[in-house]
Parts: sequence; structure tokens; C-alpha cells
Amino acid sequence: MLHNFGSINLDHIYRVPHLVRPGETLASHDYRVGLGGKGANQSLAMARAGGRVCHWGRLGRQDAWARDTLARAGVDVSRVNLVDEPSGHAIIQVDDRAENAIILFSGANHGFRRTDLNALVASTRPGDWLLTQNECLGLAELIPLADDHGLKIAFNPAPMAEEVLGLPLSRCRLLFVNHSEAAGLTGLALGAGAEALLDALAAQLPAAEVVLTLGSNGAWYQHGAQRRHQPALPVEAVDTTGAGDTFIGYLMAARQAGLGIEACLARATAAAALAVQRPGAAESIPDAEEVDRLLTDPAASPAP
Ligand code: RIB
Repeated sequence: MLHNFGSINLDHIYRVPHLVRPGETLASHDYRVGLGGKGANQSLAMARAGGRVCHWGRLGRQDAWARDTLARAGVDVSRVNLVDEPSGHAIIQVDDRAENAIILFSGANHGFRRTDLNALVASTRPGDWLLTQNECLGLAELIPLADDHGLKIAFNPAPMAEEVLGLPLSRCRLLFVNHSEAAGLTGLALGAGAEALLDALAAQLPAAEVVLTLGSNGAWYQHGAQRRHQPALPVEAVDTTGAGDTFIGYLMAARQAGLGIEACLARATAAAALAVQRPGAAESIPDAEEVDRLLTDPAASPAP
């Protein structure tokens, strides 16, 4: 079982001709509300991929539909608590070139207390995986607690923030970073190349496996002396929101199924390629059959 300590957000998604500029009032040409949050997206992706995942989260009581959506996909939601607080939400602009800009309100995602973390970790078995991102409070306590309990920790420091640098990252087995997160962790310039970022991460966290995701430039995997590049599939993106989360959920599910890293990267890449061709975050995540079809016949155009 993989346990995912992660955010659940309501995503308010506005399609706009361009991302709004300072001082500008801009009309959107489409608006929808859907399930999001990096944590929820990753759990949903893992379940759609056929993985076993238990989500640890907090959600405003009035938004129970979001928990039901996770449950219908096969996520164990027995540790998603409905609380008398507003849910986390995100205001997302997506422009005509599929670029996005996101404002987050953490809401209930920030309500975990130390006693909650103790109980959650105590409910797990040593050897299980714990996946987490940076949208819930309590990581400085949770990471050592989980490591001491024997959990294997996978961490996606998204969204990147100053506090991440103070976390005990050497206790993480697996790190998922995009370009800017890798630059933030290593202190290298945003213009640094992938190999320089990987060198710096290897020096900083020599025991960790690192997956560096680069959107249309594919993904890198690094562990010890092993370094491998997985090219992205050439697709026309309409919305990249949640594509990184889709990649992570699919990769963790493939790992759980015992696949080697090459196959894990290929499945994750195919899933992300399908996700970027659809609007929304959780709603854009493909199921395992679609991913299988794309892997079998990459030339076949994916279902809309
Ligand atoms: O990674 C995409 C997610 O980031 C969105 O679903 C939004 O909720 C923010 O958390």
C-alpha cells in the first residue's frame, strides 16, 4: 500500500486568451470547477493506473463530492476527514498556449496536528511507501516520524518554497522535481541544464533516487551511477495542469506493480501525454487502458 499525505483542492479553472497582467481586468471564455490538489491528483492517478493507494487528507464537509470522486476511482478514502473548515482551493488561469498560473488557498489542507500525524503513521506497516507534496503543513514532523517507522518516503517539493530547504530531505528515498524545483533545491540558476541539476542533486542527496520532469523535454531518472532519459511523446497540449501529478501517480503505481524503471518512466510519460490533451486536473487523468493503448500504438490518436 502507498499512503499519500496530500492536498485536496477545488480547482476553479478559467480559460483566458493570456494570463492576466498586473492591473488588468480580463474576461474568461470558459469556467469550470473540478477536483484538484497535487495530493488528490496523484492519488487519483495512482488508482486509475491500478495502484493501491490510501489518501490522507482534510476536506470541508460541504465538499464531500471530492472525496466520493477519489473513492469511485478506487482510492482508499478512510483517512480523508471531512471538517468544519473551508476546503483548499486553487484559482487557475489557462491560456490559449496551455500555459497556466495558479493561486492557492490552503484551507483545510493546513489543519493537520501532530496527534493526527502520529495516528496516521501508526496505521501503516514498515516497508510501505509514503508519498507527499508541499501543499499540506507538517512535513518537518512527518518525514522523520515516517522514516523512523520504516516507511519509504517519496517527496515532490511542489509548490517549491523556502521552507522545503529546511526539511530533512536525506530521509527521502525518492524525489520528484521539475526544473524550477530542482533549481530551487540546488541553488543553481533557473537556466541550468538538466545534467547540471542532476549532478548537483546527486552530490546533495547521494542516496536518493531522483526523477526530474521537464514537460515536453521528457524526464530524467538518476540513482547512484545510473542516469537515464525518457523522451516525451509529441502531443498538442491544451492544459498542462496536473500533468506532473499524473506522471507521479502512474510512476508510483508501475513501481508498486514491480516494473523496472524503464517501463515505469514509459507508462508515466504516456499518461502525462494523454493528460495534457484534456482540460482540468483530476478530470484529465487517463485510465490504465488508455495508457496501454497509447504504449502499444503511439501513432494512434488518443481519445478526446
Ligand atoms: O498540480 C496541479 C494542482 O496544483 C492543481 O490541481 C491545483 O489544485 C494545485 O494544487
